[in-house]
Amino acid sequence: MADKATLTIDGKSYEFPIITGTEKEQAIDIKTLRGATGGITTIDPGYKNTGSCESAITFLDGEKGILRYRGYSIEELAEKADFLETAYLLIFGELPTKQQLDKFHADIKSESHVDEDMKKILDGFPKSAHPMGVLSALTSALIAFNPSTVNVDSEEDMYAAIVKLLAKFPVLAAWAMRKKKSQPLDYGDNSLGYVENFHKMMFAKPNEEYKVDKAVIEAIDKLLILHADHEQNCSTSTVRIVGSSHAGLFASISAGISALWGPLHGGANQAVIEMLEAIKEDGGDTKKYMAKAKDKEDPFRLMGFGHRVYKNFDPRAKIIKVAADDVLTQLGIEDPVLDIAKGLEKEALEDPYFVDRKLYPNVDFYSGIIYRALDIPVEMFTVMFAVGRLPGWIAQWREMRLGKEPIGRPRQVYTGENLRSFKEVSER
Ligand code: SDX
Repeated sequence: MADKATLTIDGKSYEFPIITGTEKEQAIDIKTLRGATGGITTIDPGYKNTGSCESAITFLDGEKGILRYRGYSIEELAEKADFLETAYLLIFGELPTKQQLDKFHADIKSESHVDEDMKKILDGFPKSAHPMGVLSALTSALIAFNPSTVNVDSEEDMYAAIVKLLAKFPVLAAWAMRKKKSQPLDYGDNSLGYVENFHKMMFAKPNEEYKVDKAVIEAIDKLLILHADHEQNCSTSTVRIVGSSHAGLFASISAGISALWGPLHGGANQAVIEMLEAIKEDGGDTKKYMAKAKDKEDPFRLMGFGHRVYKNFDPRAKIIKVAADDVLTQLGIEDPVLDIAKGLEKEALEDPYFVDRKLYPNVDFYSGIIYRALDIPVEMFTVMFAVGRLPGWIAQWREMRLGKEPIGRPRQVYTGENLRSFKEVSER
C-alpha cells in the first residue's frame, strides 16, 4: 500500500505521508500543506472526502455494510450485550467485568437525582415545545447545577462528569415526554436496570403499580445499542468540535442534540413515520411518493433512505426490520404502516433511481415503527435516538480530550468583495 502522496503545483512537488488504519483505510496527512505551499488549503463541502481525526471507537465499512464498536460486530452486540455494557465498551474500550459493570451502574445510580430547581426551567416551556429542544436546553442548564463538570482535565474528573450525565440524561428525556403529555414527573427507581428505569420514568402512572412486559424493555435496549455510536456523523462531529474548545461535556452534548434534531440526521425517524402516515392517508399510493422522491423539482425525499457512508444496506436497518416484526408479533399489534414501509423498500430496491445512487434503508427507516408499538409519541423518536447515542458522543468527546486534540477551526476560500472604501450615507 502507498505510504506517501505527491502533489504538484506550478511544477513544484510536495510530498505528504499516507496513514493507514487498522482496517487498512488510508488518508493523506495534510497537516503541513498550508505551510509548505505558502497558504494553499483544501476545500470539501460536507467533508465527504475529509477525515477529521483518527479514532479507535467505531469502524464502518459503507460498501460492505459493516458496523463495529471497539471491534465487536453490531450483530453480536445487539444479540448478546445490553445497553449499559455497550456504553461501557464504547467509552472505556473493553467489555466490562461483572465487578466493573456493577460499579459503573452504582456510580450512575448515585448521581440519578436532578436538582429540583431544574423543574422551574422545564415549567417555562410551552407544552407545544419539541422534546429535542427541551432536552438540549435542559442538558445545557444542567451545567449550572454541576459546575465541577466543566473544567475536567484529569480522567477522574472526566469520569465524574460522564457518570453524572449518563445518570441525569434519561431523567431529562423522560421529563421532556411527561411535559408533552401533561403528566407529573417521575423520579425513577434505582432498584431497576438502566433501561427499565428510563422506561418507568417515561410511562409509570402515579396511581398505579409500575409493570412492564420484558419484551418492551428488551426492544428498547436493542434499539439503544443500535444507535449508540456511528463514528464521525454530523452530531458526533459537533460534539467533538464544541468539546475541542474545552466548553465542557454537557455543553458539547447539548450542541450534539441540536445537530441530531435535523430531519436529514436523527430527526429522520420522526419524518419517516410522518411520511408513512401521509402515504397511508393517501390510500397507500407508494408510487406517487416514489415519483416525488425522484423529482428534482420536488423537495420531498424518501425519508429513512440513503446514507453518506453506507452504499449498501445499513446493518442496523436489517436488524431493526426483523425486530419490528418480532415486537409487533409479541405485542399482538397490527400496524399497516409496517406493510407500507416494506412495500416502499421493495419498490425502491428495484428502482434504477435508487439502485444507481445506492440508496438503501438506513437506521431511521424502521425504528419509528417499533417506537410506535411501544406507545412512544412520534416527537420523542429523536429523543430516543439521543438517549442511545449518548454513550457514543461521550466516548468520542473523551477520546478527543484525552488525545489533547487542538481546537477545531477549519479554513475557507473567501469569495466576497475586495477592499473598498466606506461611503457616507449621502453618497450611497
Ligand atoms: C442518520 O452519518 C451518519 O452516520 C448518520 C446516522 C448516524 O447513525 O449518525 O447514520 C444517522 O442520520 C441516517 C440518515 C437519516 N436521514 C434520512 O433518512 C434523510 C433522507 N436521506 C438523505 O437526505 C440523504 O440520503 C442523506 C442526508 C442521509 C445523505 O446525503 P448525502 O450523502 O449528502 O447524499 P446526497 O444528498 O448528495 O444524495 C446523493 C444523490 C442525490 O441525487 P443526485 O443529485 O445525485 O441526482 O442521492 C439523492 C440525492 O438527491 N438522494 C435521495 C435521497 N437521499 C439521497 N433522493 C431521494 N430520497 C432520498 N432519501
